Amino acid sequence: WSPFVVSAPGKVILFGEHAVVYGKAAIAGSLDMRAYALVTPRTDNKARMVLPDIGVDVLFDSHTLPLLSGTELSHPSEVEALVPSSISIPEGPGRTAVLTFVYLYGCIFAESDRTTGFTLCVRSLLPVGAGLGSSAAFNVALSATLLQLTGQLQEEGVSASDSKLINQWAFHGEQVAHGTPSGIDNSVATYGGFLKYIKGEPSVNLESTHALRVLITNTNVPKSTKALVAGVRALRDRYPSVVDGILDSIDSVSTTAATLFQSTSEAEETLEQQMQDIIRINHGLLSTLGVSHASLERVREVTAARNLASKLTGAGGGGCALTLIPNGMASGDVDVVARELEAEGFHCYQTVVGGGG
Ligand code: PMV
Repeated sequence: WSPFVVSAPGKVILFGEHAVVYGKAAIAGSLDMRAYALVTPRTDNKARMVLPDIGVDVLFDSHTLPLLSGTELSHPSEVEALVPSSISIPEGPGRTAVLTFVYLYGCIFAESDRTTGFTLCVRSLLPVGAGLGSSAAFNVALSATLLQLTGQLQEEGVSASDSKLINQWAFHGEQVAHGTPSGIDNSVATYGGFLKYIKGEPSVNLESTHALRVLITNTNVPKSTKALVAGVRALRDRYPSVVDGILDSIDSVSTTAATLFQSTSEAEETLEQQMQDIIRINHGLLSTLGVSHASLERVREVTAARNLASKLTGAGGGGCALTLIPNGMASGDVDVVARELEAEGFHCYQTVVGGGG
């Protein structure tokens, strides 16, 4: 076989974070920042995974990798026991990547009688741990690679059933990485575009023809999703009717956004104006839930001074913010805003939301 490349995008939550935990709608979209896997054949029967961005380079003798049946994991830590003793498991994000590789290799190769030697090298433009779905992009690229190597995908192009299979395995990879993920990150990385997501329901692709220009600002302030989600819960326990009202308003923001993404009748400028309004409203609602942060407020102020709307994205408390860039804005003017934000110690990415999976 010839070398091949697989890629998958990161994600950004556009609307509905936190409220989604309580069964409200959220909207997420794909980023044009992706993880890329280059897969090359080897003449020995070994499997090597190289992740230069996070310092991982592991070489497995294929016969030492266990073949696994069934996908039920009672705890991700069980995977650790499956790693061949010849491999030292790295610390940090590399650890998750190695565990996921061993698990998905074992499950996907068990579905086929093929063995083949290969080197998988993954590079990613997505910062790790910033809430931009870097692990889901990795898991989608990894699942597609292993399925391709075992002849489980169709020869040309990616069919609907291929996507479904890739998404299912990527979800299992996310379970190894995160325990109980919602599934939205791997769905966005598989299908691309804009998805509406409600907990416990299949995600709905909004089939939008719009693409959004955004500036993503990583405040570089570390956040704990778990602690922030717990904080909202504690606030809701103390003031249930107040907080439920806020969560309902966030739900209305998400459903309004879904209608806007699907609209074909409105002029682009009107859509843009409405999108800016709901971005501001969603940020305000999140900040009343106590999940904003001084750094995120700084992003909001700097961009508001240029008449741009921003909101935190993901868990808040630091992490990333997104700013809508009007279609008519010259990229030189976006550079000026990005430089102002970078002068505050933040890192900016000019990107487009809504591209392919
Ligand atoms: O930490 P992130 O960016 O992956 O986003 C978490 C989103 C929350 O709604 C706060 C939590 C959740 O599980 O949906």
